[in-house]
Amino acid sequence: MQKRVKGWGLAAALLASIWGAPALALVQSAPPVSYGVEADTFHPVRARQGMVASVDALATQVGVDILRQGGNAVDAAVAVGFALAVTHPQAGNLGGGGFMLLRTAAGQVSAIDFREVAPARASRDMFLDKQGNADSKLSLTSPLASGTPGTVAGFALAADKYGTLPLSRLLQPAIALAREGIVVNDALADDLNTYGKEVLLGHDNSRAIFFKADGTPYQKGERLVQANLARSLTLIAQQGPDAFYKGEIADEIAAEMAQHGGLIDKQDLARYRALERKPIGGSYRGYQIFSMPPPSSGGIHIVQILNILENFDLAKMGFGSADAIQVMAEAEKYAYADRSEYLGDPDFVKVPWQALTSKDYAKSLAQQIDIAKARPSEQIKPGKLAPYESNQTTHFSVVDKAGNAVAVTYTLNTNFGSGIVAGKSGILLNNQMDDFSARPGTPNVYGLIGGEANAIQPGKRPLSSMSPTIVVKDGKTWLVTGSPGGSRIITTVLQMVVNSIDFAMNVAEATSAPRFHHQWLPDQLRVEKGFSPDTLKLLSAKGQNVQLLPAMGSTQSIMIGPDGTLYGASDPRTPDDLTAGY
Ligand code: DON
Repeated sequence: MQKRVKGWGLAAALLASIWGAPALALVQSAPPVSYGVEADTFHPVRARQGMVASVDALATQVGVDILRQGGNAVDAAVAVGFALAVTHPQAGNLGGGGFMLLRTAAGQVSAIDFREVAPARASRDMFLDKQGNADSKLSLTSPLASGTPGTVAGFALAADKYGTLPLSRLLQPAIALAREGIVVNDALADDLNTYGKEVLLGHDNSRAIFFKADGTPYQKGERLVQANLARSLTLIAQQGPDAFYKGEIADEIAAEMAQHGGLIDKQDLARYRALERKPIGGSYRGYQIFSMPPPSSGGIHIVQILNILENFDLAKMGFGSADAIQVMAEAEKYAYADRSEYLGDPDFVKVPWQALTSKDYAKSLAQQIDIAKARPSEQIKPGKLAPYESNQTTHFSVVDKAGNAVAVTYTLNTNFGSGIVAGKSGILLNNQMDDFSARPGTPNVYGLIGGEANAIQPGKRPLSSMSPTIVVKDGKTWLVTGSPGGSRIITTVLQMVVNSIDFAMNVAEATSAPRFHHQWLPDQLRVEKGFSPDTLKLLSAKGQNVQLLPAMGSTQSIMIGPDGTLYGASDPRTPDDLTAGY
C-alpha cells in the first residue's frame, strides 16, 4: 500500500502562511436552520402526527394508514417495505436485502442489517472467466448473481422487536395490492419498457408476470396482478418468516437455483439471520449523525467526509460555488479511496471504523485539500491509518406521532435484480453478488473498485453504499433521510445533510438542489444539470474533470421542526413518489 504524498500538509501550511490564506480551523457553528418560508421555491409537505416519504404513492399511503390506525413508525416502515415489493418491483423486494436505521422517541438508535449473504458454495473467483477477467453477466444477470435474501428476516426482526402490530397484520396491504392488482404508473411502465425488456423478458416466470400474452410489458394505466406473489406474502403472514426460509418459498427458491445453476440452497436459506448492529455515530457542526455501519460503507464515509468538511466554511463559500464543490469533491475522493481498501463485512474483516471516522484523521486529509487545484485521483491512495487507541434501490423514511423515526434503504441491486423470479413464488431475486469485488481492481456496475476486504467468501455480506441516516439536533431527531443510487448514495445523502445544515435549505430545497459526485475512480466530477456554467468552468480550471451526467439519487426525507411539525420531501427526480402525512 502506498502512502499519501508525504509532507504535503506541511508545505501547504507554509504556502498558506506566505500567501496569507486562512489556516484550517474547525467551523463548529452552522447558520440558522430553515423549515421553509413563503419566499422559497420548493416547499415541503407538512403534517403534525405522522409522515411517510417513499418512492411510490400507493406504498406511502399504506404507511400513513398504518400510522393512522395506531401503528408506530416501525410498523409503518415494515408495511411500506412489503407494499413496495408489490408496487415497485424494480427495487422493492422480498428476494433482496437492505438496512433499517431507527431512532426511538427515547433516543435509542439501532441498525438492522438484512443484507444478502454469499451462499455456502460461493467462491472467491466465481465470476472470473477462463482468462481471469471478471464477467459482469455472471454477477448481474445469471442465477449466480443472487445472495441469500434478507428482507423477510429483517422486517420480521424489526416488527418483532420494535413494532407494536403483528407481522401478519403488516402484510395485509401488500397481499391486497398483489392479489387485486395495481394500476401501472409512469415509473414502472418506463422501467419495464427499458430494463424489464433487458432482464425480465428472457425468463419464463418473470415474463409471465410482467409481460402480456403478446410479449409487451404492462403499460401505464393497465392493471398488474401478481397472484403468485400474493400467495407467498400470504404464506409469510400465516407461517411467519419460516415460510420464506424453511417452507414452501424456500423450496421454490432452492429448486429454481438447482435447475439453472444457482448456488442458494435450503441450508443457506435456513441459516440466514438478520443482525442488529450498532450504528456509526459522528458529529457535524453541533449535530449528531447516525448512519449505517458495515457491511455498508455509507455511515463511515458520510461521517468521514463531514469530518473533513468541518474544517472549511462551506456556508461562507455558498451553495453551488466552485469552492464548495471543490472542497467536497476532493474530500469525497479520499473517502472512496479508503473505501476501496478497508471496507468489507465486519464479520470477516476488521474494518478500522474508529480511525476512519476520527476527527484527527479528517484533519490530516483536510490539510491535503487544495481549494485551487484538484489532486488527480492517481495521486490519491488509501490513507495510512493510525491504530485506534483507547459500504436500483429504494429508500423510505417514516416518523410517527411519538417521535420514533425509521429510515430504510433496501434493494435487489440493479433494476429488477437478476431478473429471475424463483419458480412459482412470484419473487424476483437480487443480483447483489455484483457488490463484491469479483477481482481486485476491476470495477463493479457502479465503477467501484475493491480489494481483499470485499472479496467473495461463503457466508459473507457484500459491501454496500446504502446509507439510511438520521441527524439529531439538540437531542431530538431532526432529519431522516436516505437514497438509492449505488456508489452515489453516499454523496447524495451527504448533500442532503450539508444542504440542510450549511446552506440552511428547507428539506424540499435540499432535495431539489442539483447534485454532484466524485468517487475517486474514475477521476470524474459528475454533475447534474442545474449548476451555473461559470461554476463548472471554474471547477475545470481547478483541474476537475467535470462531466454532465444523468440525475442521481431519489431521496425521501423527513425533517422535524422544533414544535414537532413534520416537513417531508420526495425527490423531483423520481416520477410517482409521494410524501404524505396526517
Ligand atoms: O448496496 C449497494 O450499495 C447497491 N447494491 C445499491 C444499489 C442501488 O442503489 C441501485 N440504485 N440505483
